[in-house]
Amino acid sequence: MKAIVLEQFGSIDNLQFKELPVPQPQAGELLIKVVFAAVNPYDRKVVEVFGKEAGVQLPVVLGSELSGIVEATGEGVTGFKPGDAVCGNLGTFGGCYAEYAVVKQTDVVVKPAAVSFETAAAAPVAALTASKAILDEGGLKAGEKIVIHGASGGIGAMAVQLAKAAGAHVTATASGKNEARIKALGADVFIDYTTQDFTTLIKDADLVLDTVGGKTQEDSFIILKKGGRLISLVQPPSKEKAAQYEVQAKMIFGGPNAGRLEKVMQQLAEGRLKVTVEKVYVLSDAKEALLAMKNGHRTGKLLLNP
Ligand SMILES: NC(=O)c1ccc[n+]([C@@H]2O[C@H](COP(=O)([O-])OP(=O)(O)OC[C@H]3O[C@@H](n4cnc5c(N)ncnc54)[C@H](OP(=O)(O)O)[C@@H]3O)[C@@H](O)[C@H]2O)c1
Repeated sequence: MKAIVLEQFGSIDNLQFKELPVPQPQAGELLIKVVFAAVNPYDRKVVEVFGKEAGVQLPVVLGSELSGIVEATGEGVTGFKPGDAVCGNLGTFGGCYAEYAVVKQTDVVVKPAAVSFETAAAAPVAALTASKAILDEGGLKAGEKIVIHGASGGIGAMAVQLAKAAGAHVTATASGKNEARIKALGADVFIDYTTQDFTTLIKDADLVLDTVGGKTQEDSFIILKKGGRLISLVQPPSKEKAAQYEVQAKMIFGGPNAGRLEKVMQQLAEGRLKVTVEKVYVLSDAKEALLAMKNGHRTGKLLLNP
């Protein structure tokens, strides 16, 4: 099978489009024929920024979310059979940038017929990370004020919808070209960070979701009310600032959660959640997709089609 393989950390130029043997499913695993794999910022960061510290053993096939068709099942698999359409978030480098991937049966769910393969590949990481961040760790309640930084991104756009559905008042920050799309997803207030200073426009927020980091994260302490919460997906917030402003602040990580993914697929099937796909690349153009991701300012998810 064809796959995108990393043999050396440092640059996305090190990625190779190679022929590999089709992996075989072990007990509790499924062999999936990949229909789409999604490209995430983390894929590039492991290659170019985190390297060995991410705990990834080389060589490795990139990609942590996919949609596809079950080709074969390992011993002890229940609930899936060859021919089933499935999708999932497999966690760090689950081998999705390939024609075939082996996945744990506990990491994937059956794709509803009403959800396209594109949507099913684009939603898992964003939906599971956003819901863990704002609902589980952030404890968002109806009537609270949430600020979502990077609302134009994969995670942010999902967080806007989940926060609105939870009954919160949603303020979204992103660049201006995204305003109509993000308001249509449920943002009550949109702030264009390229022309406006959010610290002068927001006060007494209950919860901030930070998908940007740096100065955006630092300035977010100013807009929280006492006892408020800051959840970052990109860098650990300052403990000193949290104490100074009397707020709780932490960085969290998403990950597989099949129980919740089933509900997400249902919400997508019923049109209660939406995912935007910006572009589909062929598998051999994975470097180009990762470069587009690195350059930023995406307007939707990027997918690979083997
Ligand atoms: N901790 C975890 O488990 C976890 C899981 C998934 C992702 N992440 C991380 O979360 C981050 C977001 O992921 P993603 O997939 O949503 O990325 P993404 O699709 O690239 O979205 C990031 C968005 O932020 C916007 N942005 C950039 N600078 C901004 C600023 N100063 N203020 C407000 N918005 C700004 C960008 O677009 P515009 O500037 O054009 O508006 C972009 O659309 C990444 O760093 C990723 O690695 C962490």
